[in-house]
Amino acid sequence: MALVPMKLILDEANKGGYGVGAFNVNNMEQLQAICDAAAETSSPVIVQVSRNALKYADKGLLAAMVRYMAEEKYPQIPTALHLDHGPDIETIKECCELGFTSVMIDGSLDYATKDANGAHPARSFDGNVAITREAVAIAHSYGVSVEGEIGTLGGIEDDTVASAAHLTDPLEAEEFVKQTGIDALAIAIGTSHGAYKFPVGTEVKLALDIIDDVHKRVPEIALVMHGSSSVPKHMVDEVNKYGGKVPNAVGVPTAMIQDAIKRGMRKVNIDTDGRLAITAAIRKVFTEKPEAFDPRKYLGPARDAVRTWIIEEMKAFSTAGHAGDYQPVSLEEMKKRYAG
Ligand code: G3H
Ligand code: 13P
Ligand code: ZN
Repeated sequence: MALVPMKLILDEANKGGYGVGAFNVNNMEQLQAICDAAAETSSPVIVQVSRNALKYADKGLLAAMVRYMAEEKYPQIPTALHLDHGPDIETIKECCELGFTSVMIDGSLDYATKDANGAHPARSFDGNVAITREAVAIAHSYGVSVEGEIGTLGGIEDDTVASAAHLTDPLEAEEFVKQTGIDALAIAIGTSHGAYKFPVGTEVKLALDIIDDVHKRVPEIALVMHGSSSVPKHMVDEVNKYGGKVPNAVGVPTAMIQDAIKRGMRKVNIDTDGRLAITAAIRKVFTEKPEAFDPRKYLGPARDAVRTWIIEEMKAFSTAGHAGDYQPVSLEEMKKRYAG
C-alpha cells in the first residue's frame, strides 16, 4: 500500500525542506513515466488529474491505473492521487468516491460563471472561504487532503495578463488558512499556466518574497506553486525543429524554483513541460520515420522522454532519495486524525 494522502507527502517535505513535483496525467504513458522516474530516484510523488483529464479518460480509468502503479508496481513509493483545480463540490465528492487521496478546490475562481472574454471571474475572499470550508468538511470525512488557493495566477510583467491576476496577500493567506482548515495552500507569485509565461527577452521576475512572508505566518502549511513549468529551450527547439510552431515560449527557470523551495514552496505543479517532451519525441519519430504507424513506436519514445526529464526534476527539487523516509498512512488513519 503506497497510495497515501498528499498531506503525508507534503508534511514530510516541509520537515525536510525539499519540494515535490506534482505532474499532470491524461494517459498511461505519462503515468508510467512519472512512476518509473519516482522509483528510479526513490522519490515520493504526486500524480494529478485535471477536470478535463477526468473527462478525457473516463474518470475512473486514471484512478485505477494510478492505484495499480502505487499499490502493485511500486509499493515502496509514497504516491498521492490529486484532483488538480477542482471546480466545484460535486467534482470533489466524485473524486473522494473514486479513491483520490487529495483534492484541490479552486475557490479563487467562479467556474460556474464566465465574463465577456470567456474567463472565469475571481471569487470574493468570503466566497472562496465558504466553498473551501465545504470541500474540507467533505474531503476530510474520507481522510482526503485538501489544497486551497488564494490569489489568482498571471504574469507580473505582462499588463494584459496582470490586470486579471491578483498576487497573494500574505495577511489574507494567513486568515484563509485559519478559516478553512486546508492542508496545502496555492499562492500566486507571478507564474501563469502554459508555455508563454513571460515576454521573450525580458528578465523573469517572480514575487518570491511572498513565499517568505506566507511561510513565516503558516509554517505548518505546505505551499503550492502552480504554473511551474520551465519550458526548457531544448524541448521547444526540438518541437520547432520537427515542424512544430511554439514560438517565444518562456517558463520559470529551474534555479528560481529551487529558490522558491528554499523559501518554503513544497508542491511544484508541472503540466506544460510534459506536453512539450511528448510532442517533441513524437514529432521526431514522425519526421525521421514517416513509415511508422504502430503507436508504440512513437508513444514509447515519448514515454522515455518524459521519464528522463522527470528524473532531472526530482533531483533538482531534492525529492530524490526521500521515498523511504517514512511509513505510509492510510486514508482510514487520516480520517481518525482529522476527526480527533
Ligand atoms: O492547470 C491546468 C493544467 O495544466 C491542466 O490542464 O485542464 O488542459 O488538463 P487541462
Ligand atoms: P504549467 O502550465 O506551468 O505546467 O502549470 C501546471 C499547473 O499549474 C497545473 O495545476
Ligand atoms: Zn495549476
